[in-house]
Amino acid sequence: MASQHSTAVIVGSLRKGSFSLKIAKALTRLAPPSLQFDVITLGGLSFYNQDLEATPPADWVSFRERVKKADAVLFVTPEYNRSVPGVLKNAIDVGSRPYGQSVFDGKPGGVISNSPGAIGGFGANHHLRQSLVFLNVPVLQQPEAYVGGIGDAFDENDELVKASLREFLEAYIKAFAAWVVQQTR
Ligand SMILES: Cc1cc2nc3c(=O)[nH]c(=O)nc-3n(C[C@H](O)[C@H](O)[C@H](O)COP(=O)(O)O)c2cc1C
Repeated sequence: MASQHSTAVIVGSLRKGSFSLKIAKALTRLAPPSLQFDVITLGGLSFYNQDLEATPPADWVSFRERVKKADAVLFVTPEYNRSVPGVLKNAIDVGSRPYGQSVFDGKPGGVISNSPGAIGGFGANHHLRQSLVFLNVPVLQQPEAYVGGIGDAFDENDELVKASLREFLEAYIKAFAAWVVQQTR
């Protein structure tokens, strides 16, 4: 049997109808059985404040534990003003501290940005990669995932109905699974 790997899927949008969340959920259905997903949404994650480290808020502790126990980390995010939404940057900051105890350290990663627009969140994708270099998260390079035109990809039951995107995400998650195997052996 292929080895099993858990992946923390971190969603960069709080919106109930978030396309990023829909993509994250679709991936759980498209992924090979060797990957298990823990989809993490960021509502309720307190703002990072170093003064709180003496007694960290319970939501920080829980977030850090969920990421720490995963073998890999996959970010699915929209782009806000050509960068990463504040909630996602906050989650990265929370997970990265206390200094020397980052829960991201050494975990293989992936970045999927998306947008109803044509550019597919390229700016967010690469700003996120900048942080991931510092956090020592080796990120899958190819295929790159800048998912544009997300607005018509799902039906009213949140089913992924855009065949081209389904094919792409299937290929992406297969490559990601292979990347995780390669990076964790
Ligand atoms: C504050 C804000 C900034 C945005 N900036 C961008 C942007 O820079 N590029 C882009 O393609 N879309 C931008 N959008 C549109 C988002 O891509 C769109 O709202 C998307 O549906 C949000 O992702 P979600 O569906 O996962 O919540 C922005 C939306 C908001 C609310």
